[in-house]
Order: sequence, then structure tokens, then C-alpha cells
Amino acid sequence: MDVFKVSSNGPLKGEINVVGAKNAALPLLAATLLTEEEVTLRNVPDLSDIRFMVEILAHVGSEIENPEPGVWKLKATNLTHVAPYELVRKMRASVCLLGPLTARLRKAEVSIPGGCVIGPRPIDLHLKGLTKLNCQVEITNGYVHVDASKIKGGPIFLGGRSGSTVTGTANIVMAAVLAPGTTRIECAACEPEVVDLCNLLVKMGAHIEGIGSPELIITGVEKLHGCEHSVIADRIEAGTYIVAAAITRGDVTVKGIPANLLGAFLDKLEEAGVPLEVSENSIRVLPYSGSLKPIDCITLPYPGYPTDLQAQLCALMTQVDGISIITERIYPNRFMHVPELQRMGADIAIEGPSAIIKGASNLSGAPVMASDLRASAALILAAFAATGDTWIQRIYHLDRGYERFEQKLSALGAKIERLSDKDMPKELLLD
Ligand code: EPU
Repeated sequence: MDVFKVSSNGPLKGEINVVGAKNAALPLLAATLLTEEEVTLRNVPDLSDIRFMVEILAHVGSEIENPEPGVWKLKATNLTHVAPYELVRKMRASVCLLGPLTARLRKAEVSIPGGCVIGPRPIDLHLKGLTKLNCQVEITNGYVHVDASKIKGGPIFLGGRSGSTVTGTANIVMAAVLAPGTTRIECAACEPEVVDLCNLLVKMGAHIEGIGSPELIITGVEKLHGCEHSVIADRIEAGTYIVAAAITRGDVTVKGIPANLLGAFLDKLEEAGVPLEVSENSIRVLPYSGSLKPIDCITLPYPGYPTDLQAQLCALMTQVDGISIITERIYPNRFMHVPELQRMGADIAIEGPSAIIKGASNLSGAPVMASDLRASAALILAAFAATGDTWIQRIYHLDRGYERFEQKLSALGAKIERLSDKDMPKELLLD
């Protein structure tokens, strides 16, 4: 298995380009099942999660080509309605097949994804939405069975305990675009990735009003057609590189990211005192001296502060004098990075859904374990600020969602190497 060896780093310097967003590309790929015509997606990131999704789409009958890096052509002529556990279990986002299979074939059988380390990830709202579309929904033997022979539009309130659901909204929108009648979704997710999906669907011939707002009105059509679409930029990748620059007091310009996708995140960094130069399509982090200021941050659905940038902010705040409080409102247990940061010397206490960070810790390198995608990124960022070497194991989590992470950071001067665990000093192996 691969590991990262990350060494203490001085300021990162240079420019870095952001790729297409994983969390936009995954539902966009699923949406190609909604038509028998060819859909071409551009700016698709090269990630293991994308390869899992392509594998599942091929299994249900999509003909798929990858003529050049970042470009996928998909044609879903002869589809089957079953997405089996052995494929679905590899990636939770495969639940995004539920909406398009339901809409296109009027039936679906999709395995329920297994447990997730960041906390419970129920799909009750996806199922409620389908029921409100007059589908018969049953769970048996670990599968969701949908009979959509009588599917029709209707009003749906799609909010849950934590507010809106991103992939739930994606699923219900995809089911509704081919359902007779009008569907009104209230408490729809407003994340840019949902907007990107709606924009693709409109290009395919769907009728959707209110895109980007919490109320979506969808008038069903009989058929959708092929089109070309470019995936929006990855705001989480961009945010991760911005924190990498800030934690090393570097001078880095992150290019290809519309700043309006990162409003709450940039606001928090400005509050902490990170000097930023924000242009329409790029964000420059400038070097600073002295300490940043501690912050109080709560993760919320968009346009609030994103949970997918919470772990990275925790890493940064370990270096900031004073007490910072970071509260998780989306996944109250998403703090697996904390015990690993503690092993590196961070002073963090977890109180309910909050991390209380006593900052300005002198971190030192240690062998640590990556537990999920964003936690892996946070450990690497912390390692830049630590003395000595940090060995990060189970980095396959990182490969799910960051394209060429170590090459991109190395180009900015980061000391990060991908090695085999066989190259690790044996006494540092945690497994
Ligand atoms: N929820 C329910 N019932 C549901 C669905 C969700 O109660 O049926 C709750 C969840 O437990 C959570 C909240 O609603 O508390 C929000 O979950 P959501 O459904 O929005 O999450 P998701 O669609 O499963 C996507 C991203 C995640 C990201 C979340 C929140 C994709 C493929 N995944 O997940 O991305 O954290 O939205 O923004 O889009 C990541 O990239 O590292 C990642 C985990």
C-alpha cells in the first residue's frame, strides 16, 4: 500500500490549477443514464471515485469512452435496473443511480451503500422523495426496490434534521425530470454541484426553474437528449490548496476557481487574518508575519461553511494562538482527524459536535492514519507545519478525491513523497 512521507515545509510558492469537482462529476455521470443519446462530459477529474462510477455505469449498460484525459463520452442505450452491492459498496455516491434508473426504466434496484466513517449517512430523504413522486419504494435484502410505473410529479419537502441533502436533491431532480406533471422541491440543496447538475439537465432538455435556490420547480418531459458539458471547478480542492498556502505562510495563486463558490470559506480565512487577493477566477494567498486570529466556525449547507473543508481548517487553527471552536452541523462525528492531529502534538478537545482547538501547538512528525478523504488532506497540511517527518498511511482515501495531489503540491515546493509502506521504517507501521 502507498504511504506519504511529508516533511516540514517552508512557504509554498507558485500557481496551481483546480480540476473539475468530484462531487459535481459523480452525479453528472449518473445523469447520462437519463437519455439514450450520447453525453460528453469534459473537465472530469482523474480520481478513483470517478473510475468506480464509470465501472458501475458500464455494469448497468452504458457504453463509455475516454478519448482523452478529462473527457468521457457516455451512451446509455440498453440499460438494466440493478446496481449490485459489490459495486455500490465501493462508493456511497453510487446511490445517485437511483434517480436516473427510476426515471428512465420506471424501476430500480440499487444496493444500499454500507457504513461510512464520517458518521451515519442515511438515505431516508432520497426514499421519501421517490415516494412523494408516487413510486412504490421497498427495502429488502439490503436493496432499495423502486416501482415507478405510476410516477408523477408533486410537492416534496426534502429537508431533514441537518437541512438539505446534496445527493438526495440530485436523485429527486433526476427522477422528476422525466416524470409526468410538475414537481416542486422545497428545501432543495443549493450547493454549486447541484446547480451544475441542473444546468446539465437543462442542456439535455429538462425544464427546471429556481436553479440555485431552495425551491426547484420541475416540469417533466418525455425524453431527454445528448449534449456536451464541462464540470465546474472543485471548490474543496481549491480550499485545500489555499489552506496549504496559509499554513506554510506561502505565496500561492489558486487558478480556475470562481471565488463566489467559496464565500463562507474565504470569509473565515479573512476573519482569521489570512491575506487574500481575490479575483473573479483566481485566489492568491499572500505571505504574512505574526500569528493569525482564532476563529469560531460552524459547518452548514451551502452557502454556509462546507463540512468538506472542516478538517483542513482544524489543521490550520492548530497553528493559531488562542482558542478556536469548529462545530460540525452536517456530520457531528466528523472528527477522525483529531486523534491523529493529537498524535502530532495538537491540543484539541472534542465537546459534542465541536472541536476546541488551543492553538500555536508545536507539532512534530509522527506516523498517522488517514481515515477519510478530507481527514487525509488535513494530516498532510498539518505535517507541513510539523517538525520532522510525518508518515501518512491509508492514503487511498486521498486518491478518491484529489487528482495528482502530491505532484501539484511538490510543484509549489512541498516536501511530499509517495512511497510504498515497504519503504517505511517497520517500527512506524500502524497496521
Ligand atoms: N441526510 C439525512 N437523510 C438523507 C440524506 C442525508 O438525514 O436521506 C443527512 C446526512 O446525514 C447529513 C446531511 O443530511 O447530516 C447532509 O448529507 P447530504 O445528503 O447532503 O450528503 P451527501 O449527499 O451524502 C455530499 C458529498 C459529501 C459532502 C456532503 C455535505 C457527494 C458525492 N458527497 O454527500 O462529500 O460532505 O454532501 O456537503 O457529493 C467528500 O467529498 O469528502 C464528501 C463526503
